[in-house]
Amino acid sequence: MERVKTGIKGFDELIQGGFPLSSTILVSGGAGTGKTIFGLSYLYQGAKNLDEPGLYITLEGNLKNLVWNMETFGWDIKPLQDAGKLKIYKMNLHTQENVEMQIQEELKVIAKLVKDLKVKRLVVDSTTALGVWIPEQGKMRHLLYSFADSLKNLGCTTILIAETKGGKLDFSAFGVEEFIVDGVVSLYFVPPNRMIFVRKMRGTNHSKTAHPFDINEMGLEIKYRDEILWEAIK
Ligand SMILES: Nc1ncnc2c1ncn2[C@@H]1O[C@H](COP(=O)(O)OP(=O)(O)OP(=O)(O)O)[C@@H](O)[C@H]1O
Ligand SMILES: [Mg+2]
Repeated sequence: MERVKTGIKGFDELIQGGFPLSSTILVSGGAGTGKTIFGLSYLYQGAKNLDEPGLYITLEGNLKNLVWNMETFGWDIKPLQDAGKLKIYKMNLHTQENVEMQIQEELKVIAKLVKDLKVKRLVVDSTTALGVWIPEQGKMRHLLYSFADSLKNLGCTTILIAETKGGKLDFSAFGVEEFIVDGVVSLYFVPPNRMIFVRKMRGTNHSKTAHPFDINEMGLEIKYRDEILWEAIK
């Protein structure tokens, strides 16, 4: 199976070398567990070291946190942006009416960016923020499903970020995301430990325990040789 190295220190070792090519991976976790930094690291490594252009799709109101993250890590992203290897795109949804149509329009823009920039790596931060635009549960699930499906057709290797309440067996906000993806990577923060756990990865003999990780001035670093007892996660 062809694999896509994330380039995140110590992570590829947990999943036989990388994400399956063209797969969709859910990265989930509670507030401040490192989801955004994980997604950014994946794109930065791809653009900088692996010659794979990346697109970061955000639904956040302001982009300050992104800029802060990149600045504190000393990542020099300007040249990558100028070279079209790293693109940040803010998805614009205006009202709760016609959300489906707005999403269809946005998907067209995204598809064009993917084509023009030859994007190989995609990150959506977050499906949870997308879901809040659709108050009705059934409709929202259907929409998430078709959104993920449309992204799948773009042929990229994609990370969808999902916010959870932080519980051990919480993998998404709406309880459907983890079933429509090929892989689930869960991040936890039980002070003072940060932990990462691969819940599923299709076609992969992945690690089956939780591992400690750090966020430092270099970004994310997983201590893949160390293990954390499952009981230690609350
Ligand atoms: N330079 C740094 N050095 C050490 N830790 C850092 C640094 N920058 C950020 N962090 C840690 O990373 C956390 C934020 O990570 P990130 O934004 O990826 O989390 P998140 O899971 O996306 O959060 P949210 O749920 O708010 O979107 C901060 O709360 C802080 O603990
Ligand atoms: Mg975030």
